[in-house]
Amino acid sequence: MIKIAPSILAADFTKLGEDIKSVSSADYLHFDVMDGMFVPNISFGIPVLESVRKATDMILDVHLMIDSPSRYVRKFAQAGADIITFHVEAETKENTLNAINEIHKLDKKAGLSVKPDTSAQELLPFINLLDLVLVMTVEPGYGGQDFIYEMLPKISELRDIIVSREIKCELEVDGGINPETAKLCIDAGANVLVTGNDVFSAPDRLAHIKKLRNP
Ligand code: DX5
Ligand code: ZN
Repeated sequence: MIKIAPSILAADFTKLGEDIKSVSSADYLHFDVMDGMFVPNISFGIPVLESVRKATDMILDVHLMIDSPSRYVRKFAQAGADIITFHVEAETKENTLNAINEIHKLDKKAGLSVKPDTSAQELLPFINLLDLVLVMTVEPGYGGQDFIYEMLPKISELRDIIVSREIKCELEVDGGINPETAKLCIDAGANVLVTGNDVFSAPDRLAHIKKLRNP
């Protein structure tokens, strides 16, 4: 089944609780953390996650776009994250392994993400340990960008690896997802679609989530 993960980066923060309710038929709630270092933009962090945790029972899918994320996995787990995904470019191999283990010890799911210029191969030393891999289909840092079509072969490559290794790892895509690009990603093998601007600007969000599941 295809899962939809609305990104609250595109929500109206003056009525965040209402906006979260409006997408609660989705599968995950995607939470984009940016530190102004790993990516040029700054978004929100731990206190906001604590509030969101109190406001919803949805599965909180935290995407850390921060430098040296291993420093923070425990804090995000304690603040209510269910899935913690960080970037393979942001850590040493050793810290990446330690962070994945720490996330699992905290009883949370661990994900690893690649930027558009990073090859799928970089994930291979870790993929057997992961619950999720996240292929960025835009340069991380901002919502509302255009989908990079050149990422489709990377999605297929990762799906083939997941199938051939017989591992239980979700394959998520993030950036520029709309019904047209959703279909391409699903056909390439993605099973979790992050959607920011497309879903929050839709007049009927419930109907839009349904449409993205079956584009
Ligand atoms: C980008 C973020 C995305 C973003 C997606 O750095 O990781 O999650 O919110 O937004 P849209 O769907 O608008 O491209
Ligand atoms: Zn994201």
